[in-house]
Amino acid sequence: MDKSKVPVEQRQAIGLLMDDHRAVKKLFKQFEAASGLAEKRSIAQETCQQLTVHAQIEEEIFYPALRGASDKLDDMLDEAKVEHGVAKDLIAAIEQDDAEMLEANYKVLTEYVGHHVEEEEGELFPAVIKAKIDLRDVATQLESRKMELLGQPA
Ligand SMILES: [Fe+2]
Ligand SMILES: [Fe+2]
Repeated sequence: MDKSKVPVEQRQAIGLLMDDHRAVKKLFKQFEAASGLAEKRSIAQETCQQLTVHAQIEEEIFYPALRGASDKLDDMLDEAKVEHGVAKDLIAAIEQDDAEMLEANYKVLTEYVGHHVEEEEGELFPAVIKAKIDLRDVATQLESRKMELLGQPA
């Protein structure tokens, strides 16, 4: 999905979420390239933190702003909610810090989140654009909540 083609009413909000997706995908690659357990552990921790914050701002702010726009969107949001639930279970497993299972858990998380991101960028965001939902206030809320959760001043 090309950010510059997103209409201005949605660009900031969708752009922020897409930047989060890119950042996590970068961590997935870093994990794959990392050799030592210590490095892998720290990348895994960073991934879990970023994903947790991302899922939380989507659930608290983004998804509710889309509710009720169309039946199709509502169905997608229901699916996204289930997918977030599965991702959270995987995150919880990684945060158990079981070194033996780290590779396996992280690999499944990578595949699973990759699939979820594809659905958001390939189906959900285009549907939001089509429904012409004005997300300018939502963008501001997403930004400040993200900063708050990351413990940085807004
Ligand atoms: Fe999501
Ligand atoms: Fe997302």
